[in-house]
Amino acid sequence: MKRILLTGGAGYIGSHTAVNLLEQGYDVFIIDNFSNSKPSVVSRIEQLTGKSCSCAQVDLLNEDDLGEVFSHNKIDCVMHFAGLKAVGESVVKPNLYYHNNLIGTINLINAMIRANVKQFIFSSSATVYSESNPVPYKEDYKTGASNPYGWTKIVIEQMLRDTCAADPDWTVSLLRYFNPIGAHESGLIGEDPKGIPNNLLPYVAKVAIGELPEIHIFGDDYDTRDGTGVRDYIHVMDLAEGHLLAMKYIENRKGVFTFNLGTGNGYSVKEVIAAFENACGKKLPQQIDPRRPGDLATFYANVDLAASELGFKAKYDLDRMCADNWRWQQTASQY
Ligand code: WQD
Repeated sequence: MKRILLTGGAGYIGSHTAVNLLEQGYDVFIIDNFSNSKPSVVSRIEQLTGKSCSCAQVDLLNEDDLGEVFSHNKIDCVMHFAGLKAVGESVVKPNLYYHNNLIGTINLINAMIRANVKQFIFSSSATVYSESNPVPYKEDYKTGASNPYGWTKIVIEQMLRDTCAADPDWTVSLLRYFNPIGAHESGLIGEDPKGIPNNLLPYVAKVAIGELPEIHIFGDDYDTRDGTGVRDYIHVMDLAEGHLLAMKYIENRKGVFTFNLGTGNGYSVKEVIAAFENACGKKLPQQIDPRRPGDLATFYANVDLAASELGFKAKYDLDRMCADNWRWQQTASQY
């Protein structure tokens, strides 16, 4: 049975991918420093799947602990989710982001080289695309970030390209996520950000549950169908399936393979809020605020490559994403 190492596997995307891998018969080993996740997620993953899931508290900045993971476990493939990911925080604390995300990844690659592990799936992001690109974004479009978080993703992508160039036995898939939302249908796991959420959906959910007073819509004067920002929201379980397909795709290939993981459709802020009101059965208090610096009007994915190469197609629509998120939000506070 193939053993897959998930760095940051107790986090939002990692935990949902762990569920999918376990249900598909893979052996999963989670390492996480629990800086933005909880150890209880792992027991909920086991409850959900009926499968055991190994886990160790490891920080990628601790090279000795990381080396122990590889010396005591035969790892077939690494899925790298661990990293700081708040765009706004990265602008205020750039060195924290460069140190944590880049040094952590360098340590991980070095540990893999020492252990002769050469299959790597990277949690990249649509934020790597330059703002000058037309939409929908294609994988060969220009990259260029507008914040340190995005630059860490671009630099890590390049580190992995150079690792593959140095050792032709390596194989890497760079998965560029658009806007992941939603939760597993069980309501046992979901997005559980610490503090005030930066992203739209978790913020809306906290207003719906009564933890925050009202939704702030960052600008309604964009050149879009209703003036609010348009993004490509993808269900986290669709994203999890994309990881499995990418892992199978690189199994018998060498080199670097980049894929957008999105739906290919864009929804506006107002459309997302309306869908969530439908899911939770109540009107939500909201106000129009000034635009958020750095935000684009519209971006969404061209998903042709993932469809043709991986056979990837997102299954879930916005209503399902909101319904699953709302189910999770109603139980989240007990964990
Ligand atoms: C979506 C839309 C906002 C909050 C970011 C990262 C990206 C990825 C996903 C990691 C925009 C509007 C938001 C709010 C609002 N993360 N909004 N009120 O900025 O598209 O992408 O998260 O990889 O890398 O850049 O996501 O959810 O913050 O914003 O009106 O309280 O919602 O203006 O139009 P974004 P988001």
